[in-house]
Amino acid sequence: MRILVTGGSGLVGRYVVEELKLTHHVEILDLKRPDRSLLPYHPVDLLDEGETREHVRGFGVVVHLAGIPHPLNDSPEKVFRTNTQSTYNLLEACAANGVRRFVFISSESVLGFAFSTTRMWPEFLPMDERHALRPQDPYGLSKVACEQVCNGFTRRTGMQTICLRPPWVWVPEPKEVEFYKQLRAEYPKWYKNLWAYIHVFDVAKAVRQCVESPDLPAHDSFFICASETWVDVESKALVAQYFPETRRIADSFTGKASLISCEKAKRAFGFSPLYSWRDIIP
Ligand SMILES: NC(=O)c1ccc[n+]([C@@H]2O[C@H](COP(=O)([O-])OP(=O)(O)OC[C@H]3O[C@@H](n4cnc5c(N)ncnc54)[C@H](O)[C@@H]3O)[C@@H](O)[C@H]2O)c1
Repeated sequence: MRILVTGGSGLVGRYVVEELKLTHHVEILDLKRPDRSLLPYHPVDLLDEGETREHVRGFGVVVHLAGIPHPLNDSPEKVFRTNTQSTYNLLEACAANGVRRFVFISSESVLGFAFSTTRMWPEFLPMDERHALRPQDPYGLSKVACEQVCNGFTRRTGMQTICLRPPWVWVPEPKEVEFYKQLRAEYPKWYKNLWAYIHVFDVAKAVRQCVESPDLPAHDSFFICASETWVDVESKALVAQYFPETRRIADSFTGKASLISCEKAKRAFGFSPLYSWRDIIP
């Protein structure tokens, strides 16, 4: 398959590119030149619709990671505008150029917890795709909007649009290990993160499964995450302490189970996380 990966020079995108290039023809579109990759590279700003259309020609699949990955370093207006406008421009370009499948890297932030400023708690546990989406911040709002835009393009053109919602993506890079260790020691501070994460290798594999699976729906969204939290405390005890309002808890929610369920991704394309934080922190 001929696949264009936007954001292929970024933290997560470069692992996605490494995985896809093993079995597919891959090209990278990004504002930033990739550090090491020898793959064809398109230096494009997705906010420029003309340039975007020019560079999307000839691909069957587009995997879209480019954007601003959290709301902490840029103005809210810039985060929302960049993520939504670039996704819209790219989808128009994909529709105009006959792209068959569009895989969008959304985020668990659609739930709204991560960057919330007013108190929230899960309606039920584990949360899955039936849970309400209640983002307040420009990043989570941009991801919900982009998922809706994906749905609209599927309705208009029949292009398949698959949205993956990873939580915090952990990478096996030495400079991050000390930070992850410190994080684990300070887990109470991180309750809004729901102690959720996914190893970047599992993100890359999920993207490949979505690119290759013959049986995906025309449009849908899927959470993908590690099966357990990154904390040493049992999940029910974490919930009792940090989210005491949550009463609807499944019997299956035991041990250190993630507060987010990936059962739907498992059923749809066989997603099953193989890695954990233990593969990153020695
Ligand atoms: N890192 C995480 O923990 C995490 C978690 C969930 C979802 N995501 C999503 O995954 C994607 C990748 O995240 P990341 O952590 O690799 O971010 P990153 O900042 O490392 O990479 C994003 C890439 O997008 C490119 N980009 C930004 N604006 C662009 C534009 N207008 N035109 C073309 N390229 C542009 C940047 O140059 C960069 O290389 C994002 O969509 C993010 O929201 C990330």
